[in-house]
Amino acid sequence: MKTLYKKSCLKLSNFTCEEIFYLIQLSKFLKKHKHNKTEKKYIQGKNIALIFEKQSTRTRCAFEVAAHDQGAHTTYIGPNDTHIGYKESIEDSAKILGTMYDGIQYRGFSDTVLKDLKKYSKIPIWNGLTDKFHPTQILADLFTIIETFPKKSLKKIHCAYVGDAQNNIANSLIEAANIINFKLNIVAPKSYWPQKKLLTKNYSLNNNQKNIFYTDKIQEGVRNVDFIYTDVWVSLGESDDVWGSRIEELYPYQINKKMLNMTNNPDVKILHCLPALHNKKSLIGLKLHNKFKINNGLEITDDIFNSSINLSFQQSENRLHTIKSLLVSCLSEEKIF
Ligand code: CP
Ligand code: NVA
Repeated sequence: MKTLYKKSCLKLSNFTCEEIFYLIQLSKFLKKHKHNKTEKKYIQGKNIALIFEKQSTRTRCAFEVAAHDQGAHTTYIGPNDTHIGYKESIEDSAKILGTMYDGIQYRGFSDTVLKDLKKYSKIPIWNGLTDKFHPTQILADLFTIIETFPKKSLKKIHCAYVGDAQNNIANSLIEAANIINFKLNIVAPKSYWPQKKLLTKNYSLNNNQKNIFYTDKIQEGVRNVDFIYTDVWVSLGESDDVWGSRIEELYPYQINKKMLNMTNNPDVKILHCLPALHNKKSLIGLKLHNKFKINNGLEITDDIFNSSINLSFQQSENRLHTIKSLLVSCLSEEKIF
């Protein structure tokens, strides 16, 4: 495998299958050493800029803690803190950041910004979520899947994604299934299947790829799967006005006991990138439950969310280890294994 040194990650398909497996193996190694307090620092003295145009808990904290654990420094650049994109173009900003930093994480709206950051900064750029993709999340999810079934090859996994299949998580999951060749069922109303403009030769709605299957029929989509993955029905940056129609159209695709029964698999596990709207304990959760007269969660019911089959907190912890693996691989020339 070629080294990942100085590599960017604008989307998961920037990596080969071999590189993804390497990143996951390195995540496992780094996680073990972090837990054993035997971690060695591979990127001491490196500087990383963290540009966030959208909110974040996991991604921001994972980048900051990963960098700190590894001896690197971070600068958090929030939506209102700098001239980037307002008084100064992305091109000029990227040229400046490229002289000061060793790498940039970008969370925002457009993939064009990512591409411009890469072109003009000439340093590695990592996508921490755009409207289109969320590759670092899927790296953590693949690691979590491997941890859950250590004896089963990732290529033999069967996963269903239910809900809004036009969002960044669905797109990156489809990329992962294409690269790794595991079985993925996209289970959503037809109007929520991936947008045609996103479809490259690697995406197809024709169900002619043997490992990716699109259906709006829930029973057909979840039968015998190992995992059901879901995400919020309205993503960051979308208008609150769409909640009404999303709830109406996607409520049948909620993860609940009925859906679990349809899997016919007593060992089925749940994946969710979080945050999840499963109860009234967040401001938005409370508002939506009251406004739309819902009493047990939106994309997932509270009982299933709080059950042991839900792996979302393990996925969250793994954001740290996989992002650390990415930083170490792209910023250090040292061969770790
Ligand atoms: N899953 C995820 O990306 O979470 P944050 O929005 O909190 O970063
Ligand atoms: N699809 C979600 C993912 C959050 C991690 C969003 O973009 O808000």
